[in-house]
Amino acid sequence: MKIQPAASLNGVIRLPGDKSISHRAAIFASMATGKTRIENYATSADCASTLNCLRNLGVEIRQEDSTVFVKGVGADGFTKPPRELDCGNSGTTMRLLAGVLAGQNFDSVLTGDASLSKRPMRRIIEPLTEMGARIESENGCAPLKIHGANPLQAISYKLPVASAQVKSCLLLAGLNAKGKSRIRNPKSQIETPTSRNHTELMLRYLGAEIEESYIEAEGGFVQEISVAGNSTLVAKDLKVPSDVSSAAFFIVAASCLENSEIVLENVGLNPTRTAILDALQSFGADIEVLNRNEICNEVVGDVRVRGRKILVSKAASNLIGGDIIANLIDEIPILAVFAAQIENGLEIRGAAELRVKESDRIAAVVENLRRMNAAVEEFPDGFRVGKSSLKGATVDSFGDHRIAMAFAIAALFAEGETEIIGAESAGVSFPEFFQTLAGLRR
Ligand code: S3P
Repeated sequence: MKIQPAASLNGVIRLPGDKSISHRAAIFASMATGKTRIENYATSADCASTLNCLRNLGVEIRQEDSTVFVKGVGADGFTKPPRELDCGNSGTTMRLLAGVLAGQNFDSVLTGDASLSKRPMRRIIEPLTEMGARIESENGCAPLKIHGANPLQAISYKLPVASAQVKSCLLLAGLNAKGKSRIRNPKSQIETPTSRNHTELMLRYLGAEIEESYIEAEGGFVQEISVAGNSTLVAKDLKVPSDVSSAAFFIVAASCLENSEIVLENVGLNPTRTAILDALQSFGADIEVLNRNEICNEVVGDVRVRGRKILVSKAASNLIGGDIIANLIDEIPILAVFAAQIENGLEIRGAAELRVKESDRIAAVVENLRRMNAAVEEFPDGFRVGKSSLKGATVDSFGDHRIAMAFAIAALFAEGETEIIGAESAGVSFPEFFQTLAGLRR
């Protein structure tokens, strides 16, 4: 894919459904009793992997464009799959389904592509084993052979990492456990949940007995989420908001290109996902939320962005780190591109989890920014990017959707043409990305 610099972005658009919420909608609707209609289901390849796995587990699913109809089988009503369950590139599919499969009375195998087969799974294997499932793996990685058990034992577990996938995996296993499971997030200095809470919100929406509480401890906050094992999910139609993580690419682009004005309609604005908007605003971006509303327990709104020639920072420091990282983890590649546009640049720390995403995102960002002439320093847990005049170059997606899209935006700011190797990996979360970008260019 070859990308030319852009003068501005303009237009009003509605992006596809949120990837995280879509996975959950399909899985929870399958675990419910009754029929669900899911509107605006994500068009991403990852979310297609989830539907495919659920069909192989005996769930009747019909799709008409972005509307998905699911006939629920109940939390423990899945059937032994006739083949291995291929999660493709999707960590969310693998980790959430592992939680469901741990509580079924049959054996199943979860597989994934080369990238997913390298990602750490001990973080789910250990607690699921404690709950009574038996899981075989390749040194803590996929393929995972899951010997399910029903009922599982309830668990009281402190998460070693602020991971929504691990938390969700255990909450889903908890639905098939005897008693109440309690999952504690790592200690945090901020009172917002330390990882996205779509699972908690949607499970509650569907009638699960789920409670969130904060305990003040050791000079910080500890969040505990409990779920009752005898909860039943009752099917209810679901509407998925547009994906704020996909929106972030256009928000950064429009913020930095003078004379831009875009409106992104119906974007999911769950506070555990919007740290990116706060960060961009604090560094001078002109972002406004209009028509704030709530659907299916999730905050949504229209996001208006206006471009400025010079971004004047109001932030106290040019360092982003600590507990806020979990709330913008997927936006760090595009934040790195933004960093090269702002006075004094930006340092990101405490983000070592980026090394075990779809690619080593710290290495990928550093390598590509350097190829584009940016001043970058790499740390084990992050990087520092100085304000830089980007130059067109050949960059690599490293097979990672967010790297492909982040550098398509970097290309808009650069002098000369940029070529992205492996740009098609954008389809993992946002197949329409390049077409949408072309439609906004002026
Ligand atoms: C996700 C959680 C995050 C995020 C991923 C989607 C989810 O991963 O990076 O893209 O839908 O729960 P972790 O939970 O591993 O941090």
